[in-house]
Amino acid sequence: MKVLVVLAGLLAISAAVGPVVPAKVVCYYNSKSYVREFEGCIYPAQARMLPLDLDPALSFCSHLVYGYAGVQPDTYKMVSLNENLDVDRSHANYRAITNFKTKYPGLKVLLSVGGDVDTEEAQKYNLLLESPQARTAFVNSGVLLAEQHGFDGIDLAWQFPKYKPKKIRSTWGSIWHGIKKTFGTTPVDEKEAEHREGFTALVRELKQALNVKPNMQLAVTVLPNVNSSVYFDIPAIINLVDIVHLSAYDFETPERNPKEADYATPIYTPQNRNPLWNADAVVNHWLQGGAPAHKLVLGIPTAARTWKLDSESEISGVPPIHADGAGEAGPYTKTEGILSYPEVCAKLINPNHQKGMRPHLRKVTDPSKRFGTYAFRLPDDNGDPGLWVSYEDPDTAGQRAAYVKAKNLGGVSIVDLSMDDFRGLCTGDKYPILRAAKYRL
Ligand SMILES: *[C@@H]1O[C@H](CO)[C@@H](O)[C@H](O)[C@H]1NC(C)=O
Repeated sequence: MKVLVVLAGLLAISAAVGPVVPAKVVCYYNSKSYVREFEGCIYPAQARMLPLDLDPALSFCSHLVYGYAGVQPDTYKMVSLNENLDVDRSHANYRAITNFKTKYPGLKVLLSVGGDVDTEEAQKYNLLLESPQARTAFVNSGVLLAEQHGFDGIDLAWQFPKYKPKKIRSTWGSIWHGIKKTFGTTPVDEKEAEHREGFTALVRELKQALNVKPNMQLAVTVLPNVNSSVYFDIPAIINLVDIVHLSAYDFETPERNPKEADYATPIYTPQNRNPLWNADAVVNHWLQGGAPAHKLVLGIPTAARTWKLDSESEISGVPPIHADGAGEAGPYTKTEGILSYPEVCAKLINPNHQKGMRPHLRKVTDPSKRFGTYAFRLPDDNGDPGLWVSYEDPDTAGQRAAYVKAKNLGGVSIVDLSMDDFRGLCTGDKYPILRAAKYRL
């Protein structure tokens, strides 16, 4: 009898909180990391990430998202952006990736399209949404491409126009004025309503086509600085998609704001900043729009954002801070304004570093755990520019995962694995950001 009462109690509790779905850990793999070798040849071995390097990550991942396919400009078909790498016999990455399901039977592998890497004729993403014929061509080709290579579904990382960055005034005192002005955002897309409707139609049509196949999933990714309330009709699409990936990071980047460095990926609003530019605001928008929490997956970026500091930068290092454009490229990633996590950890002050090396970065953590970690060094007298770095590390990744857990969200995504420390150069552990996030879920 007692047992029955306890059982009934447990059932009541689980009915109240809904079905217990294990938290998702969605791992993105950007295939561009594979070709890093060919772009520069100083550190080829460390920079290049092969599908084989994914193996140590996959026991932590529930999903693997392979990025990115693109849209062919004139036909609007969904296509591989690098056939030699993805589908040709020599590399056949698509197969190499989906074959991991043999070793990890629970793993779902999705093919993602867009992701801000498909830059040729960027307008095509809008044009496609305006034309039913173009949408049909996209849907048919996409389903075929995914099916042929053994994917479990498609992720639409749709390249919508981004809202404008904050205006930076030259005089320091008027920053608050600048912020206030940008609260009302100027439209960047004259056909917003049409694109929103077109996207809803695309989701519906793709869902219909995928439904015919067994067990095919549909996900959408909201890319950084895309306004969810403009382009995503939440009530209309939410029942059609399995996962919504919220890339709620990169609110401040050196491309968008070369003159001012700031927290790139705050969870909550830092003081005197736009209250919409943080992860919590994006998550709440989707929850208030009626999305069930368990469908929302919050992104954790592994790439740091970096700015150069100059003699005008405030010596405290406290953001927002005057900057002089993107920080210099890292030895592996070779992209201005970006460093991978192992590139950042190599620059941090460390008692074991030899004297006489370039000055190292001082790390500043946020005890409130709300805004993120940064590290910096001021310019020095030898003409070395300073550097200011906003980045995620295992601690902040854990904080984001704890946020996800507290809000009962569906899980986290790691974007992407190639910028995590996949060789274990920092402390010896491979994929420390992924592990920390998984551990805290
Ligand atoms: C998104 O669009 C809404 C409605 O047009 C607007 O009120 C809001 O300020 C925009 N958000 C951002 C972050 O620009």
